Amino acid sequence: MKRIKLIELPKISDERGNLTFIESFNHIPFQIKRVYWIYDVPGGEIRGSHAFKKTEEFIVALSGSFDVVLHDGVKEYRYTLNRSYYGIYIPQLIWRTLENFSTNSVCLVLASEFYDENDYIREFDKFLSEVKKK
Ligand code: TYD
Repeated sequence: MKRIKLIELPKISDERGNLTFIESFNHIPFQIKRVYWIYDVPGGEIRGSHAFKKTEEFIVALSGSFDVVLHDGVKEYRYTLNRSYYGIYIPQLIWRTLENFSTNSVCLVLASEFYDENDYIREFDKFLSEVKKK
């Protein structure tokens, strides 16, 4: 079974600044099909609160910080992302909530699938029953 994983990315530093990169199957265990980013989040807002049946994601705080709260159906895990050379890998069937966005934070998300509303599970009870089927 695929597991939630905090992944440190390469960081190339010189006097001109830092550079970080991500390659499919090298740093993250899936082929990237879609990239989106969440930004200008008003203070106190919560994003996410859903799971995916099939989509795997990798989330990076490109700027600022926010918390990623994950639930695997049994236990809750909380990660604070605040570095652009770290990310959290989220396999399918994990409930995720993003909160505590700092001012000007940018949340980059790499996804293994194209956008498909049918891949979303938006009710926590439904998520729990899907996990039990596995
Ligand atoms: P949603 O996934 O609910 O946002 P969050 O994960 O931050 O809670 O998406 C918000 C809206 O944006 C929803 O109407 C679907 C749309 N959307 C797309 O059209 N394409 C995408 O790739 C994503 C992620 C969302």
